[in-house]
This record gives sequence, structure tokens and C-alpha cells, in this order.
Amino acid sequence: MVLSRRTLLKLGVLGGALAVMPLAPSIATYTADRPAPSPQIPRFVRPLAVPPVLRPVRSTATTDYYEVTQREAQVEILPGLPTTIWGYNGLFPGPTFRVRSGRTIVVRHTNLLPDGVVVHQHGGVTPPESDGYPTDLIPPGGSGAYVYPNQHRAATLWYHDHAMDRTGFHIYMGLAGFYIVEDEGEDRLSLPKGAYDVPLLLQDRRFAADGSLVFAPLGHIAVDGDVLLVNGVPWPRLEVANRKYRFRVLNGSNSTTFRLALGSGQPLTVIGTDGGLLPAPVQTPEIRLAMAERVEIVVDFSAYPIGSQVVLENRDGEGQLGQIMRFDVVRQEADDSEVPQTLRAMEQLSEAMAVRTREFVFGPRPTLNANPPVEMVINGQEFDPNRIDARPRLGDVEIWRLKGATLLGLGGRQSHPVHIHLVSFQILDRDGARPAPYEAGWKDTVVVPFDQEVRVIMRFDGYRGKYIMHCHNLEHEDMAMMTNFEVV
Ligand code: C2O
Ligand code: CU
Ligand code: CU
Repeated sequence: MVLSRRTLLKLGVLGGALAVMPLAPSIATYTADRPAPSPQIPRFVRPLAVPPVLRPVRSTATTDYYEVTQREAQVEILPGLPTTIWGYNGLFPGPTFRVRSGRTIVVRHTNLLPDGVVVHQHGGVTPPESDGYPTDLIPPGGSGAYVYPNQHRAATLWYHDHAMDRTGFHIYMGLAGFYIVEDEGEDRLSLPKGAYDVPLLLQDRRFAADGSLVFAPLGHIAVDGDVLLVNGVPWPRLEVANRKYRFRVLNGSNSTTFRLALGSGQPLTVIGTDGGLLPAPVQTPEIRLAMAERVEIVVDFSAYPIGSQVVLENRDGEGQLGQIMRFDVVRQEADDSEVPQTLRAMEQLSEAMAVRTREFVFGPRPTLNANPPVEMVINGQEFDPNRIDARPRLGDVEIWRLKGATLLGLGGRQSHPVHIHLVSFQILDRDGARPAPYEAGWKDTVVVPFDQEVRVIMRFDGYRGKYIMHCHNLEHEDMAMMTNFEVV
């Protein structure tokens, strides 16, 4: 049986005596110690894989029906070594959904895994019963259906597991994939399309010598890998033509933040954020991308002679973690795509529209059951599925002040990528300063550093019901850093 994080915490196991705990039929190692380095492998050898787009099993005039089986599978991530993963349809990452805005889909999930699962469409405007509430589990051997009306402008969303206390482990094992919404407004633009529109899921992982995954939450503070995967391939290379490409970049790591830049020094052209296209493209030398955040960029490889190699770097990573993947410019091609100066109109939410301001403090509080002796909470309280901490009214605009906090430096100097379900928000300011221009679009996740206050503004549109807000450092989330709000 897989023990829950909170159970482990209560038993005093994490960071404590039990060094290595094998999980259900030794699929992976769960360790409380700092683990050994992964096997060394060469970089920029294997080609980038792009997850297949899932097709519906049947369609009616209004609705497309999909089926997904969650199961264990063996895949080759490190050369010549088998890795057991948990995958949607046995894939790591899962298949990509590409759906039309306004068209409903129904996804039936069958759970062949040894643990209860629940699926959340991250960034979606989803009725509460299909939002993947952490305790709405599909038991092993069971199945369940999710209805997604897709009342969402075009955007790069994703779907992933959201099981209470175990989201971190489940996503680490592979339960995540892209969910891309398209619409006519975006169709009309001549942005790079088809093979030139490439999703990139960034994740770090750690492996044992036999290729199995090693899950080391280090006292549930963070999970750090030493191998960088893009779409499940370690440090891949992508052969590109000398033209423009659109990349939809998702940080699907448990606890790792990236600072993206091109090794050539060419600036990145940002066209979209979590919630889709920005009003206008923004040039920036680098992009900070925390867990669960998405950024859409266009890179024009016509700036390079054929034969050039351009590395996508992570300026926050040391050693081999400083490099993510490599683009090899290998061929000449005509390019009729363009990045228009106006991408999409965006309603700017103003402070004057807000009817209420709420405050949430994200930080550690003392506990005797952990090492270090702190747990991560919101407003000093552990998550309780039965306690509602905010009741915004449907249609209201509110400002939420999200504050980081520390506790005498104990496990405290971490930032918290705060994610709010159901709504898209705009960032008003960070400690009074305007957000970076590339963050000035619709967001559903925002980094709250331990020493800052971030104000976000949003309209509670969509559905009434119970939803959650939580830190997307999955170790913090699984610990207790989650809260309920109910739209009334
Ligand atoms: Cu990406 Cu509540 O999750
Ligand atoms: Cu979400
Ligand atoms: Cu956190």
C-alpha cells in the first residue's frame, strides 16, 4: 500500500529513521535521505518526442467522448534502462488533448493503478463535480467521467493528478499531459501552426542505477531531480528549419523553477501566458517559469545560419541542470507565419471594479512531526476539506493579497507558486511594483516569494461551488498548503 504523505508525517517517518521505503511492487524508491546521483547520460542525443494528440472514441453534434486508461508501463527514458511509470494510456507524458473553445468533451478515466486517482484540468473553467477535488478519488479498478464544457479562450492548459496527499508522487510517476484549447480568434492569426507549434513539458527527475524513478521529497520541502526531461526525453535535441516556431512551455516539475533563456543571447518573444495570448508580443532576455506556469514563445531560427546549434538554457540550474534542450538548425524553409503586433484584446480588470479584498499568507508553521520541524500552510491553518475559507459571489471581482512568510529561516525561504482553480486572474503588483511585461496576461498561477506580497484581481465567473487554491510546489500542496473557497 502507498502511504500518504500526511500519514508519513504523522508517523514521523519523513526525514527520520526509515531511509528507504519501497512502494507497491518496487515501482520506485521513496527515500527520506539525500539520494545518490542519477546515472550519467550524454546530452542532446535523443530527438524530442511530441506526445500524440488523443482522438475521441465517438462524437455527437455537441460533444466529443474520450477514453483514457491510467496504468503502469515500462518506458525507456535513460538509454538501455527500463523505467516504470504511471501514465495516462501508459504514456509519459500523457497524450495531448486539442479541443475547440465552447465544445464540450467528456473524458472517461479507468484506473488500473494500485492507488486512488483524480484528474484535474489545470486552468480550466470546470463545473465543481468535474474539477478533480482531491478527495473525489477513482479507486483502483474503478472508472469515472469528467465533463469539460471548455468555456475558455484559446490557451495552453494541462491535466494532471490531484489525489489528496499524493499528488506529488503521482505526477512524479508520470500523470500529467497537455490540454490545448483552440479558438477562431487564434485561427485567424498567422502564428506558426501544425508541426511548427510544439508543446514542451519541462520536468526534472532522479533515477536509480537500474533506471527506476527515485522520489526524494527531503522532508516534503522539495523534490529535486538531476536529469532534465522535455516531453519525457532527457536533454533532447530538435532539428528545426530556419523559420519561426511557436513553443508552448509548461513547467511540470514538482518543486523546481526555471529561468529560461537562449544560449545565443537572442531575446525570447513571449506571445502567451497561462491563460493564452497576450494583448501584444513582448520581448524579454529571460523568463522565470515556476511550477505549473505556462509561457508561449516564438523563436525565429532564421537568425541563424544552417548548421547552428542553439541551447535552451535554465539560468537557475547548476551544471547539467543549466541546459534543457538543443535546437539544431538543419534546413532552409519558406516561412509565411508572422507574429502580429496585436494578438488578442484583453479586458483589463481595474481595482475600482473589485468589491472585496482578501488576504492569504503562505508560509511555514511549527510542528513536532517533521524535520525540519515546520509544515507549509495558508493563514496558519492546515488544509481541511470541510472548512471553507472564502465565499466570493458569482460574478464579483475581488482582489486577493497573497503574502509569503517565513519562520525564523526554518524551511522558510522558499517561494510559493500559488494556483487558484476556476478563475483566471491578472497580477496587479508585487510589493507595489508592476509585474514583468511578459506576465501581464491572464494567469492562473503566480509566484509568491517568501518576502513579498503579490496582489491579483479576478472575476469569479463560471460556476458556483467548492474549489481550491493551493501552492503548486507539490510537496507543499500535499502537506497542507491548500484552502477551499466556495463561489456562492
Ligand atoms: Cu495544477 Cu490544483 O492544480
Ligand atoms: Cu488548477
Ligand atoms: Cu509553497
